[in-house]
Amino acid sequence: MSIASAKVKEFLNSSPRMLIDGEWVSAKSGQTFDTHNPATGEVLASVPLGASEDVDLAVAAARRAFDAGGWVAMRPNTREKIIWRIAELMDEYAADLGELESLDNGKSVGIATVADVRFAAECFRYYAGWPTKLTGTTNNPSMLLADPSQEFHAYTRREPVGVCAQIVPWNFPLLMAAWKIAPALATGNTVVLKPAEQTPLSALMLGEILLEAGVPAGVVNIVTGEGETGAALSSHDDVDKVAFTGSTEVGKLIVEAARGNLKKVSLELGGKSPNIVFADADIAAAVAGTIMGFTFNSGQACESGTRVYVHADIYDEFTSALAAAVGTLKVGPGNDPESAITPLVSQEQLDRVTGYLEAGKADGARVLVGGERVGDSGYYVQATVFVDATPDMSIVREEIFGPVAVAMKFTDEDEVIASANDSDYGLAAGIWTTNLSRAHRVAARLKAGQVWVNTFHAFDAGLPFGGYRQSGWGRELGAESIELYTQIKAVNIAL
Ligand code: NAI
Ligand code: MG
Repeated sequence: MSIASAKVKEFLNSSPRMLIDGEWVSAKSGQTFDTHNPATGEVLASVPLGASEDVDLAVAAARRAFDAGGWVAMRPNTREKIIWRIAELMDEYAADLGELESLDNGKSVGIATVADVRFAAECFRYYAGWPTKLTGTTNNPSMLLADPSQEFHAYTRREPVGVCAQIVPWNFPLLMAAWKIAPALATGNTVVLKPAEQTPLSALMLGEILLEAGVPAGVVNIVTGEGETGAALSSHDDVDKVAFTGSTEVGKLIVEAARGNLKKVSLELGGKSPNIVFADADIAAAVAGTIMGFTFNSGQACESGTRVYVHADIYDEFTSALAAAVGTLKVGPGNDPESAITPLVSQEQLDRVTGYLEAGKADGARVLVGGERVGDSGYYVQATVFVDATPDMSIVREEIFGPVAVAMKFTDEDEVIASANDSDYGLAAGIWTTNLSRAHRVAARLKAGQVWVNTFHAFDAGLPFGGYRQSGWGRELGAESIELYTQIKAVNIAL
């Protein structure tokens, strides 16, 4: 396999290890697991298979770093400089990080570099500004005690939660790590991160950057491993908070695992997001945006707009334009700038997505365009649009996590809002309309954590992201993530 970046070559040749207490270490057992290049299925690297004994060491390191107080007590502007430096180093190494992410995940090098890496850097830059702005309030208690002349001085302090376990998925490996590490660091917490077993590498390169930026030993620990490693971390009694992004199924296991010590939990889970195209939409923009909505990252995005509701008046025009445009999308590897649809992350995801394609056909939906696996090496599928589906079909109800959408016809606003909200999930929604009143009216009625109007996948580090219903608990990004990583202490002093 050809690799452009000397840094990536050196990184892969160095047999990457885990980061515990500022040291690069193997698993205690000596065991490793392989991570693959999805474009070819070849082994890319072997990394340590962290087990509960390694998780114990990482949690203990994070606990020592937290209790020693050096990180949380550091002058806020010093912490800001370190976090800002992380962002600068990520920009400096953007091409290396982007190529590594593409090799491990399969996504386009270009997109990884400009979208994943740059957004991850922006996330650190955004949270770099927070340490000097974390404040409490002063309060005037009015409780009447026996002595009404007794006065009080009360105030609140915003304090870190403590040791944070962060478990991330493979679809945006570096970015999801950044979404979680940046606010945790800004607020003075310490971290044990577990990257996904399919894509452990960019988090480890981020670990090198954290150390280079001056994050002290033990403040961020990175344990590579599988689901069991994550389970050991989420059930650990010395972990104060667990933040998880991944499947709704595992999200429920995290909630169970957190019972033991009632650690705080935040969850970013699955989705089956509606994308509604009204008759007054700019059709060309809606076609392009709809395609982006369900094919971005080869559809491996929790917020993907996969239920496409199209007004009856424009249904034929819209779906034929959609089919024509989807039919031209080139399927190919992430190192080819022409590839619009890059491979899925793994054989498991390929099986899952092709399973849904077969289920859709067997249930009687019609393939408007796509519908098949491409080639027999690498994990490629065609971008696919189904039509003639009914609301009970699995392709309409379940998260497929591939470039697969279902187009459905509607005739009025109330009807489409009811259909859009008919889901266990509530992560995102798209609206395409040129009518301002309709945009606001419908946005207010959709049960989703984010609504995009005449755009899709439009993120910003300052805007909260998260789900209604079974799409999760809590919101990441923006000031909301500061809430997730802090707790409030009230201090009341009798004067
Ligand atoms: P997953 O939810 O199993 O994996 C996500 C992370 O959780 C990984 O780091 C994994 O090692 C860890 N994990 C697995 N089992 C665990 C456990 N019992 N305790 C703690 N951590 C655990 O997702 P998977 O199996 O990779 O993908 C299956 C489906 O989940 C996808 O097809 C997709 O529908 C959905 N998914 C959703 C994501 C999102 O962004 N919301 C991301 C990845 C997957
Ligand atoms: Mg799994």
